[in-house]
Amino acid sequence: MGWSTRECDVLVIGAGGAGLRAAVEASSQGAQVTVLSKSLLGKAHTVMAEGGMAASMGHVDDRDNWQVHFSDTMRGGQYLNNWRMAELHAQQAPDRVRELESWGALFDRTKDGRILQRNFGGHKYPRLAHVGDRTGLEMIRTLQDHGIHQGIDFLMETTVVRLLKDGDRIAGAFAYDREKGRFHLVHAKAVVLATGGIGRAFRVTSNSWEYTGDGHALALQAGAELVDMEFVQFHPTGMVWPPSVRGILVTEGVRGEGGILTNSEGHRFMFDDIPELYDGQTCETPEEGWQYVIGDKEARRPPELLTRDHVARKIVKEVKAGRGSPHGGAFLNIAWIQENIKDSETHIKKKLPSMYHQFKELAGVDITKEPMEVGPTTHYVMGGVKVDADSQMSRVPGLFACGECGGGLHGANRLGGNSLSDLLVFGRIAGASAARWAADAQPTHLDEAQVTDVEQLALAPLERERGENAYAIQQSLQDVMQDLVGIARVENELADSLQRIDELKVRAQAVTAPGNREYNPGWHTALDLENLLLVSEAVAKSALGRRESRGAHSRIDHETKEDSLGGVNTISALGADGSISTSHVPVVGKTDALQAIIEEMG
Ligand code: FUM
Repeated sequence: MGWSTRECDVLVIGAGGAGLRAAVEASSQGAQVTVLSKSLLGKAHTVMAEGGMAASMGHVDDRDNWQVHFSDTMRGGQYLNNWRMAELHAQQAPDRVRELESWGALFDRTKDGRILQRNFGGHKYPRLAHVGDRTGLEMIRTLQDHGIHQGIDFLMETTVVRLLKDGDRIAGAFAYDREKGRFHLVHAKAVVLATGGIGRAFRVTSNSWEYTGDGHALALQAGAELVDMEFVQFHPTGMVWPPSVRGILVTEGVRGEGGILTNSEGHRFMFDDIPELYDGQTCETPEEGWQYVIGDKEARRPPELLTRDHVARKIVKEVKAGRGSPHGGAFLNIAWIQENIKDSETHIKKKLPSMYHQFKELAGVDITKEPMEVGPTTHYVMGGVKVDADSQMSRVPGLFACGECGGGLHGANRLGGNSLSDLLVFGRIAGASAARWAADAQPTHLDEAQVTDVEQLALAPLERERGENAYAIQQSLQDVMQDLVGIARVENELADSLQRIDELKVRAQAVTAPGNREYNPGWHTALDLENLLLVSEAVAKSALGRRESRGAHSRIDHETKEDSLGGVNTISALGADGSISTSHVPVVGKTDALQAIIEEMG
């Protein structure tokens, strides 16, 4: 046989915050857990959630509570969220943060020694528990240490090619390792997908090479559905210069600490149009904005902290109007606080240490003295595997999903900081449910022919003597997605993107990977392509079908919201012919009690 075999109760695919939290939970419930990680431990996109994790602990403003957090999350998601998921998330996030602290995570503190919380876009009160601008990193470090001490089995640099099934039920996964190109079969009673996002489908992204929509595609191929794939978040502030670092994240924490956005004329353009949804909660003048920076509880939020979709579109508008920064972005200035804060240099370095180093090392900019140049970068996909809120199980028995790869919580747009708390809350729920499922499950049988087929599929690019170059196809796909399915979308371009994706799918079937199986990135890219193409098709088709602008999905041919689409989610499924079909279904989880909370919060 061409593969090694291992058995476990719960297989977790992905070792970011969600995967690790799921693994820790399943293991603490007595399940034997294996974690497959595409990259090295510690390198997950979780570390790119720099500014903090949202939880209504009320340490900085005691008016905060789970109902306000729930209501903010729903408004940010334009009410397309899975209501039950938003409820569970808001209720459980504070306990998950305290638990993480009890496992050794460090946080910045208030003067009276409690976990400090900072402001972030769309959150009514300071709510993000953080440690400088390295919160995701601290979360990963803590969960990794905890997981390793629990004896969890880790296979690093190992990528899944296909999930395996016994009839309708999930039964494991087939994977290869990067180092030697060896195949691994993991026979498992339950599988948790926690593979993160799809950012590599776009040219400009904060995501690193691993984020090729693997979990989304594996789920589709196994018969699960995806929800709301049209909603892709373009974080307003990525680096724009120099070209080699374009897209790297500039944390929203910079704006949370008082950073302001200006155009080439020095105008603070975010004051220009405040969306109705936030009218009355946003400062009206820069002077009022200053009250906020110095921590006046009653001060309203500066417009730089409106939701990400709005801020990203405003930056693009300035650039298109010819008022952008020299390299096609806007100016983000935190240095201005020196006018009012004594020793602002030390203050900025303490609050934003990674940003200070990032700009100093990569762009030669000292952010304590000069503005940064920033522009939108593909950061996060709100869409993901459709799961049941209370168990995180998909419609495939034994297949669970959580974190970015799971869908539902964030609706049309995610609030910053809600992803770290999402990972903890739903990672835990997925891990517990998978462990329960595994304990009750009857043994599954793996048919060898099924495994041999997947092995052949994985080897095909190596065996073709001539064919297409995987990098060239990936680059063409990134151009299609960036240029035709990006921040501002329009019918004919979306239709065009789908035609081009179809052409790329044909070319991808003839892809070749010269060389052998040992550390062959060309081969790995060839295998990633199928996933990238599938999720791109799901994004473009879902976007074509949503003829309105809502949250992160902006149609220049349908600029307003459509009432008929206000209460529906888009579902994507994979047909027998290998193409995606989409449909609309009503949002789930809405109850009178939750509706009453929204109304009470105004
Ligand atoms: O800007 C940031 O620090 C990112 C946070 C997030 O995506 O939640």
